[in-house]
Amino acid sequence: MKAWQLTGFGLDALRLNDIPDPSPAQGEVLVQVHAVSLNYRDKLLMDGGYNPRLEFPITQGADACGTVVGLGPGTSRFRLGDRVLTQYATHWVDGPAQGKESLYTLGNVYPGALAKYLVLREQALVMAPAHLSDEEAATLPCAGVTAWQALIEKGGLRAGDTVLLQGTGGVSLFGLQIAHSVGATTIVTSSSDQKLERVVQMGADETINYTRTPEWDKEALELTGKRGVDHILEVVGGENLAQSLRALRPEGQISIIGVLESTDARLPMFTAIQKQAVIRGISTGPRVALERFLQKYEALGLYPAVDAVYDFKDAHAAYQHLDAGPFGKVVIRVA
Ligand SMILES: NC(=O)c1ccc[n+]([C@@H]2O[C@H](COP(=O)([O-])OP(=O)(O)OC[C@H]3O[C@@H](n4cnc5c(N)ncnc54)[C@H](OP(=O)(O)O)[C@@H]3O)[C@@H](O)[C@H]2O)c1
Repeated sequence: MKAWQLTGFGLDALRLNDIPDPSPAQGEVLVQVHAVSLNYRDKLLMDGGYNPRLEFPITQGADACGTVVGLGPGTSRFRLGDRVLTQYATHWVDGPAQGKESLYTLGNVYPGALAKYLVLREQALVMAPAHLSDEEAATLPCAGVTAWQALIEKGGLRAGDTVLLQGTGGVSLFGLQIAHSVGATTIVTSSSDQKLERVVQMGADETINYTRTPEWDKEALELTGKRGVDHILEVVGGENLAQSLRALRPEGQISIIGVLESTDARLPMFTAIQKQAVIRGISTGPRVALERFLQKYEALGLYPAVDAVYDFKDAHAAYQHLDAGPFGKVVIRVA
């Protein structure tokens, strides 16, 4: 079968190779892949920033929608023909994190989904929401469960809270949809006025252009009547974390999620202490959290922001789009 594999670090090393069709072993399921969505993590992986010890060649792509076409011995969760999604942290079904959740992922230590077929342990698959197309459904797993885990499962978000979302990438736009559906007030930042117009259509209450207003934290304080924001999804890192802290209300929460600017950050300690800030790392979420997120998403009839869908042969262009900063998600149609 055809598979997009990394043969080294960098986009030039992403090659369309012919590899043997996989077959499911004990507890595994064979999935015919229909669509794969890209995450910033896929770019990090490609550049060597996610797992410098990546072993090549390795098929890429973690988030996928497909159909079950084969059942290994000892499987019981699915039937042939079921439409399924991949669970990002393939070993994390429920319960507390063990600290290695981001290791056991597709395209990293396991062959990825950017291929005609994928074999995966049945515990790492969930049913796809019926109301979404394959391309839409493929966007939900990693970015969706991360925003859900941060805001709902860990954050306990309530109606009337204020949530700040940084930029208009996958995690932030799912965060916007989740916060809006709960009845929270939302503030979205972006480098682009056009993108900010689109988030208003998605329900954002307030917007800040962080290029024109680099001190976006001061603007966020003003927008909350100087009280501060209840919950911030920190997807940027670097100096941005200090700004998030300054924009936070006393006893507010910051979910540490992303590294768009830097993998390091300096924290103004006295501000954190005085505000009694809750700063919590988030590493996606367990399968049960993904299932609860998908149930809610389907019940509300929500649709993800898909910026573009690329043909399988155009994977390089899809990764370049990801690199340029998408509005929501970039998808590759496989079958
Ligand atoms: N911890 C976890 O479990 C977890 C899970 C998923 C993702 N992540 C991480 O979270 C981050 C976001 O991932 P993603 O897949 O959502 O990314 P993405 O879809 O590639 O998001 C890209 C968007 O980020 C925005 N952005 C870039 N630099 C920014 C800045 N300085 N300030 C504010 N916004 C900025 C841009 O929005 P505008 O064009 O609107 O400015 C850009 O379009 C990544 O670092 C990723 O590795 C972590």
